[in-house]
Amino acid sequence: MNHDTIVVLDYGSQYAQLIVRRVREANVYCELVPWNAPAADVLALQPKGFILSGGPNSVYDPGAPTLPDYVLQSGAPVLGICYGMQLLAHRLGGQVAGSTMHEYGPATLTVDVADDPLFAGWDAAGPSPVWMSHGDRVAALPPGFRPLAHSANSPFAAAADPARATYAVQFHPEVAHTPRGRVLLSNFVHRICGCAPDWTPANFIDQQTAAIRAQVGDGRVVLGLSGGLDSAVAAALIHRAVGDQLTCIFVDTGLLRAGEPLSIVQAFQQEQGIRLIAVNAIEEYLAALDGVSEPEQKRRLIGEKFVRIFEREARALGRIDFLAQGTIYPDVIESAGPGRGEARVIKTHHNVGGLPADMEFELVEPLRPLFKDEVRRLGLALGLPERIIYRQPFPGPGLAVRCLGEITWERLERLRQADAIFLEELTSADLLREGTQQAFAVLLPVKSVGVMGDYRTYKEVVALRAVTTEDFMTADWARLPYDVLAEASRRIVNEVPGVNRVVFDITSKPPGTIEWE
Ligand code: XMP
Repeated sequence: MNHDTIVVLDYGSQYAQLIVRRVREANVYCELVPWNAPAADVLALQPKGFILSGGPNSVYDPGAPTLPDYVLQSGAPVLGICYGMQLLAHRLGGQVAGSTMHEYGPATLTVDVADDPLFAGWDAAGPSPVWMSHGDRVAALPPGFRPLAHSANSPFAAAADPARATYAVQFHPEVAHTPRGRVLLSNFVHRICGCAPDWTPANFIDQQTAAIRAQVGDGRVVLGLSGGLDSAVAAALIHRAVGDQLTCIFVDTGLLRAGEPLSIVQAFQQEQGIRLIAVNAIEEYLAALDGVSEPEQKRRLIGEKFVRIFEREARALGRIDFLAQGTIYPDVIESAGPGRGEARVIKTHHNVGGLPADMEFELVEPLRPLFKDEVRRLGLALGLPERIIYRQPFPGPGLAVRCLGEITWERLERLRQADAIFLEELTSADLLREGTQQAFAVLLPVKSVGVMGDYRTYKEVVALRAVTTEDFMTADWARLPYDVLAEASRRIVNEVPGVNRVVFDITSKPPGTIEWE
């Protein structure tokens, strides 16, 4: 281990993962563990500090989650947030009261002890906004504690026993509605726990290349490249560690966007020097999808096809010992099941296909500890091009779920062209990274009448979709400028054969989904 570690105990708050992210943004490695994880597992991480998350319970609930003994016994600093604060108060001899005044939403915090390290650099000049979300609250502090800050409804909005480096806050420093919260968390991990800012891409690359070499030895590794961020970064990292022992397989399904297959081959084969097998499976996919228009059937056929082709190509490589995957931290947490914060919404995994059941590989998954934005930083540090680092999420089944109705090569090309024009217009208006998180064209299986020159036309309709979203679980339609939409529409109708009408999708999610299928 070449970095300091903070452990967050998960008491079920919807914000528990956010705490981990904020700590890592302060360049300190942080891990989320269930509150009842085995002590030995947690202590093996050698935590330099603990953070107790919020949670939906009251400390008086029968069976309510408790504070494990090892936390206080370790002597490491502790920060309790919300439920975590109540747990500390309850355990250390304070008093927790069920409050009739539940407090949800913004509150104003006044810091009373500005020289405490927890509030160093916190604007002492005046009160600042914080986010509250609690029922119970601490009515009397345990012996040894002193109040540090208050709000109108919480006389003990922050408190500490500096001698034991035990801190507690009633508000949520991890959420965006507490603008100074990052400062507080950074103070806790750096000034109070004494962690070094050693969680950096360079450090991670050093550590992981050593770990990959140790795992793989002189074995051979295969990895399926989709063109998406996670598999790309995993490939670059593993290649850095074991060079030509890694072979990547890229399947051109014919369902990628304009220019993508070539761009992927260039980025990996030529720029990164990675051994890459590019499989042209366009005809196979078109044959499999012939006459299919039902969305779920499309997805199933595409998934199955991928597994079969991947298996075939991997077998053709001869001996393969390891299968590499770009699994990242949110995938790990989401699939960890109950007990890991029931409040969290579980996102359906739409990854392409499963794995061939009878093939025996050991898995190599070097990105398992990372959040998406950390994967991006790592990819940049590994020298991957920005077109891959900032690529929008793209569905595994590709354009098949945006080409509504039957899939033919002609219709796919029509869609690809319209999509490329829309993305070009967004790029030249500087809207692709800031104005929207995902934007694309959809080809509808509907014809409408138009007029071009002196001729009546009867052609298909393209729908443009652009959304703003934080997590892709909810989304709003992007308020794109009219002149950008006008230019995209004008160009699509003029340049794309077979299309004579363009509409803009103004549905939010929910009730709509981002994709049309
Ligand atoms: P929806 O349409 O469910 O999409 O609102 C949410 C996000 O997930 C992407 N998406 C997929 N990604 N395989 C994937 O890898 C799929 O089958 C799939 N379906 C949707 C979608 O592009 C959006 O970012």
